[in-house]
Amino acid sequence: MKIAFYSTKPYDKIWFEPLGKEYGFDIHFIEAACNQETVFMAQGYDAICIFVNDYVNAEMIDKLYEMNVKAILLRSAGYNHVDVKAAEDKIVILRVPGYSPESVAEFAMALLLTVNRKTHKAYNRTREFNMTLNGLMGMDLFEKTAGVIGTGKIGQAMIKILNGFQMRVLCYDPYPAKGLDAEYVSLEELFKYSDIISLHCPLTSDTKHLINKDTIAAMKDGVYLINTSRGGLIDTDALIEAMLEGKFGGVGLDVYEEEEGVFYEDRSNEIITDDNLARLMTIPNALVTSHMGFFTKEAMQAIAHTTLENAYAVENGLPLVNQVGKEMAL
Ligand code: NAI
Repeated sequence: MKIAFYSTKPYDKIWFEPLGKEYGFDIHFIEAACNQETVFMAQGYDAICIFVNDYVNAEMIDKLYEMNVKAILLRSAGYNHVDVKAAEDKIVILRVPGYSPESVAEFAMALLLTVNRKTHKAYNRTREFNMTLNGLMGMDLFEKTAGVIGTGKIGQAMIKILNGFQMRVLCYDPYPAKGLDAEYVSLEELFKYSDIISLHCPLTSDTKHLINKDTIAAMKDGVYLINTSRGGLIDTDALIEAMLEGKFGGVGLDVYEEEEGVFYEDRSNEIITDDNLARLMTIPNALVTSHMGFFTKEAMQAIAHTTLENAYAVENGLPLVNQVGKEMAL
């Protein structure tokens, strides 16, 4: 199988290059993102392999189909960046559903601990021998209430971590799971009672801007909000407005509505034209990271393995256990 591998970074090659050889695949690593302008590069390949800030819309599906591309291999669990309905009966889409849920949950906790205890600021201060503590006060997590929205694989891993901190955990999911050390409540109750809120649901038409002016108003003052899921879950304008009014204790964002084209790139020598992103960087209790919750050795290894296993299944007519079917269209 010949695979056009978009949005390649050096760390992708570490895992995909040797494993691809073992499978006997011919992988062509392309640095460019997959989009309307670069889709032509898939000419001559059997499959394309894409990451979270690539996209494939209906028009691109038709182009890929004309080029005889048979599969879209997603190096991610989320699939909101591909037009699943348009691909029906044309191209199969396969994803990596549960590589290391712990990698993302642990990162969500890292964000929470950082914005709460301000270790990022302390690090900078002490390096310059500024040993003062003014402005670095946090709060105990012990016996506080955490709200987890979305109790799938990552949400459940997060609940276990929060349990370890002896927090009371409230959660919301339209499809509740059994046996969790957490209490399912309505969204309204979750917003009302939570001291920290962590988002772990997918981005769908139902969840877009789940965090908006109204839901923010329903939260406690001083609440901590952590988003390691998808940027579109939060209405950034509303978030910034509330942050400027002092609503939040802290906000940790690993994802951002308009991250495409900015995250994963070095833009340090450029003028940032995204006013919201630039504004977020100036708010002292906001912490933005570049969609890196997944970025552990174990997760990268699992992503490479499952992605190529998916390709192997397509090539050999095996059951496509990780196919994104039309019934999953968002
Ligand atoms: P999952 O599919 O195991 O769980 C998602 C859960 O969300 C399900 O239980 C589902 O019922 C629930 N859900 C659906 N609609 C909902 C709604 N309206 N309100 C509340 N819950 C709802 O997915 P998983 O593996 O736990 O991943 C969750 C999300 O994390 C992904 O969709 C992806 O966007 C994000 N993610 C982020 C990464 C990062 O690097 N920051 C890496 C991997 C995933």
